[in-house]
Amino acid sequence: MSVSSSKPIIGVIGGSGVYGLDALEDKHWRTIESPFGQPSDDLLFGTLDGVQMVFLPRHGRGHRIPPAEVNYRANIDALKRAGVTEIISVSACGSFEKELAPGTFVIIDQFIDRTIDRKKSFFGTGLVAHISMANPVCSRLGDKLEDAARQVGISVHRGGTYLAMEGPQFSSLAESELYRSWGCQVIGMTNMPEAKLAREAEMCYATVAMVTDYDCWHPDHDAVEVLTIIEVLMKNGEKARSLIETVVPVLKGRATACSAGCHHALDNALITAPEA
Ligand code: ADE
Repeated sequence: MSVSSSKPIIGVIGGSGVYGLDALEDKHWRTIESPFGQPSDDLLFGTLDGVQMVFLPRHGRGHRIPPAEVNYRANIDALKRAGVTEIISVSACGSFEKELAPGTFVIIDQFIDRTIDRKKSFFGTGLVAHISMANPVCSRLGDKLEDAARQVGISVHRGGTYLAMEGPQFSSLAESELYRSWGCQVIGMTNMPEAKLAREAEMCYATVAMVTDYDCWHPDHDAVEVLTIIEVLMKNGEKARSLIETVVPVLKGRATACSAGCHHALDNALITAPEA
């Protein structure tokens, strides 16, 4: 899966409300095949301020694929084959804190993975690897996203634990209370196993969780329903596009070898003995 590139190529995985990137120049959709199956959609290639970009709508154009049926392995593999070195993931989420109101963007630094029915690794029988997920996102990409969000006036919160749930149903009140008691800040259905696979593929990965609702724990707010979050979702989508347009030019001149170690994640991870 190794692709070398002398300049960063930025991949964007768009979640609910983000199905394209109008600002791209010379844009064209291309089918990328993967031995792991079908990615969510074709990939949109283009440039932004001279930076090569590749966009993938996580749920497909028209939002056809539910969270548990997204082929996360094929998506990450397709981005890797397209030469992507760093991934900016954006996704909708519910909030577990009063201060993280709908419209807030949270730059996640930790995850609790409660998904149960998804393929979570590129490795397996025959080739066994255990990568570190102690620090599951790229801090240097997170720094740039935080700066860019502040620059365009987005209400942004740096750091937070994202509870990845299986879905597609939203949580019960008991679950919502449990996750709050664990100290989670937000909840969503899609960032796992995406973050794990990006790490296995040795790509920088940072994720922006865009709050649409207070899940169902908040006494002053109705329990989350799709119809009531669509307006926030669309506004968040607009802000996400402006965040990407602002952050990408800053990433232009960066070294491609990540100082946080993302591009060497496999160096100490393989445990299967090499063939004699
Ligand atoms: N995505 C947006 N809001 C959510 C919530 N409350 N729970 C899970 N996923 C979500």
